[in-house]
Amino acid sequence: MTLEELKFFSTQEGRALLAEVSDSSGDDLTKLATLRKRYPPEFCRAGLNLDEQRKRGLAKFSRAQEMVFDREALEQASGESIAGYRSRRYKGFGVIGDICCGIGGDAIGLTQVGDVISVDRDPSRVGMTRWNVAAYGRFGRHRAVVARAEDWLPEVDALFLDPGRRSGARRFHRLADYQPRIDLDRLFAITPNLGVKVAPGISYDEIPEQCETEFISDSGSCKEAVLWFGELRTQVTRRATVLPQDETLALTDIGTVDVKKPGSYLYEPDRAVIRAHLIDQLAHLLGAWKLDEEVAYLSSDVAHETPFAARYRILDVFSFSLKRLRTFVRDNGVGRLDIKKRRFPMTPEQLRPKLKLEGDAHASIVLTRIDDRPTVLVCEAK
Ligand SMILES: C[S@@+](CC[C@H](N)C(=O)[O-])C[C@H]1O[C@@H](n2cnc3c(N)ncnc32)[C@H](O)[C@@H]1O
Repeated sequence: MTLEELKFFSTQEGRALLAEVSDSSGDDLTKLATLRKRYPPEFCRAGLNLDEQRKRGLAKFSRAQEMVFDREALEQASGESIAGYRSRRYKGFGVIGDICCGIGGDAIGLTQVGDVISVDRDPSRVGMTRWNVAAYGRFGRHRAVVARAEDWLPEVDALFLDPGRRSGARRFHRLADYQPRIDLDRLFAITPNLGVKVAPGISYDEIPEQCETEFISDSGSCKEAVLWFGELRTQVTRRATVLPQDETLALTDIGTVDVKKPGSYLYEPDRAVIRAHLIDQLAHLLGAWKLDEEVAYLSSDVAHETPFAARYRILDVFSFSLKRLRTFVRDNGVGRLDIKKRRFPMTPEQLRPKLKLEGDAHASIVLTRIDDRPTVLVCEAK
């Protein structure tokens, strides 16, 4: 989205165009032809694009229909749920700097708890952030400036940094490649109270020693890790947080966890728990045990409710052989088979065609290694 487009969509005519796109049906070419008769032709395609992004945006923002996005910026934006959760750490910090504001996902969260100054090097992103914060009625708490983060020296009490982790189709996996580079010395000279959003797949050897790392999942998918410094960090070094349940599991000192044969229930930990290496903590919390030292599945004989794992009742367990699995599928008339796997040599895509799936029954199996042997657990969600 260009600044000219942004300016046009803030006019009465621009808003009328967007309202008309939103109410219209049919294919894009027909819509475009109709719009071009009534509106400046150079803004009609942008109107269609914005309408499409607003629809996508509903997955992240309850007010998406009143917001402005472009595709890439929307994909990179923090959604309302995570940004709102994170912003709670900033309560009481007064003025908060929001570095790399994109379309304002984090600014929307942070203005819930303090006054926010956002910065981005891209003028149209800054324009979108201003618009979107206003869509949440919080423009009175917000300022936004165009600047390179490397040159920006604001007077703030805390900072949040969400650097770019991709350029076009290229994704950066190492912190050193993020844009802007995370220069901790420079950031600490502004304030020691800092939160940095990084990819959930961050390699542990890149995590600075002095921070707390929080892995956050939303609706079962691990979205990000946040490195917390200064007064924003807590006493623990690592935690996994699951949203929307808003529950957190922290690394604490516990004894060793047993490794035993499967009991009555299987737990598949949330990805945030796995990424935070908190399988033992979860086992301790559930009174469960591990099936194998190397595999992130837990088991117990008692059914515990937990937001940190999906629970299944174990119906059968057998050593994997194609013949045995085919017999199971045939004898039970299984036509639909859900396959989960962890540390198993075949993928579901490789295995499925080798099984004759015929019949009305539905079954779920977990393929894993127990005692270094490929094993099948037949399960049902419970
Ligand atoms: C991951 S996006 C930020 C998303 C944002 N927090 C949100 O929720 O919408 C990264 C942003 O960093 C900006 N950026 C990249 N390098 C920058 C730099 N050197 N200085 C300032 N902004 C930069 C990009 O323009 C992009 O908007």
